Amino acid sequence: MTVAALASQDILKPHLEIDGGEKLSGELRVSGAKNSALVLMTASLLTEDPLTLRNVPPLTDIGGMTEILSSLGVKVQRSGEVVRLHADQMTGAEPPYELVNGLRASFFAIGPLLARMGHARVPLPGGCRIGARPVVEHIRGLKALGAVVNVEHGIIAASIPGREQRLKGAEIVLDCPSVGATETILMAAALARGTSVISNAAQEPEVQDLANLLIAMGANISGAGGPTITVEGVDQLKGCDYMVIPDRIEAGTFLLAAAITRSKLRVAPVIPEHLSAVLQKLRDCGCKLDIDQEGITITPGEIRGIDITTQPFPGFPTDLQAPFMALLATAQGTSVITEKIYENRMQHVAELQRMGASIRVQSNTAVVEGVSALSGAPVNGTDLRASAAMVLAALVATGKSQVSGLDHLDRGYADIEAKLGRVGAKLIRRTP
Ligand code: UD1
Repeated sequence: MTVAALASQDILKPHLEIDGGEKLSGELRVSGAKNSALVLMTASLLTEDPLTLRNVPPLTDIGGMTEILSSLGVKVQRSGEVVRLHADQMTGAEPPYELVNGLRASFFAIGPLLARMGHARVPLPGGCRIGARPVVEHIRGLKALGAVVNVEHGIIAASIPGREQRLKGAEIVLDCPSVGATETILMAAALARGTSVISNAAQEPEVQDLANLLIAMGANISGAGGPTITVEGVDQLKGCDYMVIPDRIEAGTFLLAAAITRSKLRVAPVIPEHLSAVLQKLRDCGCKLDIDQEGITITPGEIRGIDITTQPFPGFPTDLQAPFMALLATAQGTSVITEKIYENRMQHVAELQRMGASIRVQSNTAVVEGVSALSGAPVNGTDLRASAAMVLAALVATGKSQVSGLDHLDRGYADIEAKLGRVGAKLIRRTP
């Protein structure tokens, strides 16, 4: 099929039609963190009491997690950005494959399910477009806590041997600081007997958010946010009312929307320490940032090429690699972007090239030569953050773009066309 035919096929899909070149002004509101909220919802499995989560973003992934937890007997009520979960009468410990397969974070429910029920059968989530995404570290951690874990027909079957049906605290050194593995182990260890120490733990803010929720539920945890987390297991956890942190990746995407359109914008609420590496790169490439208690006002200057390497937190986040590449495609000079977390996270390059970007890729490194203008085109977002990169590029491209791949975009960006529309972007969702 020709490129033109492929492009016209894409336009038949739901897409955002974006008229590029508008200056933006005003304030972009940041929703609650998707990656926190998803995992915090699974923590409801750890208690028979009701749990209330606030600032939960209205995303399709949250709908997916609601379905998964409901399939296990958890009563879930969503009202705006408040989610009430009550796991007093669990009916199962085996979420169905069709639901888990579409939502990787649901695999992390294996930790709390096992701790609560004494057994769990969770389908392996499988790889995705950006990489293989193994879960060996999760399994190794659960085994260290005393679980028997087997893979049977694509399902991870975990159980706790013995009459007491309780995990035992252990020292666990992760091979790599996996966010999901740290969260799985943290939830399982919270109800284990004795002390657990997780070394080489992920330090991402979402891990810290989970630890803070668990502490509010009565868990005894210290060190979250650093590389070593200590958990003194408790006999039971209680319900609580908890506010999810703002989404640092959405905030970063919005700062990039300002930078790519060379517009002064305010982005709030933001916890600046969650974005330190990103803020540094924005300054390095020519943006002025005014940080206050609530948020950040960004004033872009002339954007210069810079180098970026993705790293675990506190390094530069892989989830902002594609969006930042869209900005650097419009910079003066050359940028070198190296992806170190995922083996296949450069698929946005071909789409950016369709808009006139000059990018060469060798293995996991992209060399971006900035161009003076991008031109609007039909483009497809191949994963969540690639879709965000396409939206950013379309905001500055000359003429109209049609960005498809909205099923990905809607997983991570709440109400994006309304938010961007309010600050002056010209975009409309078309559902043919
Ligand atoms: C989380 C985020 C995702 C983000 C990623 C990295 C959620 C719901 N998702 O995903 O948006 O891109 O962190 O910041 O929070 N690895 C192994 N073995 C394992 C587990 C992971 O080698 O057992 C590797 C992965 O292949 C990858 C790296 O570790 O290269 C990071 O993965 P991980 O931190 O586990 O990502 P997730 O928790 O799935």
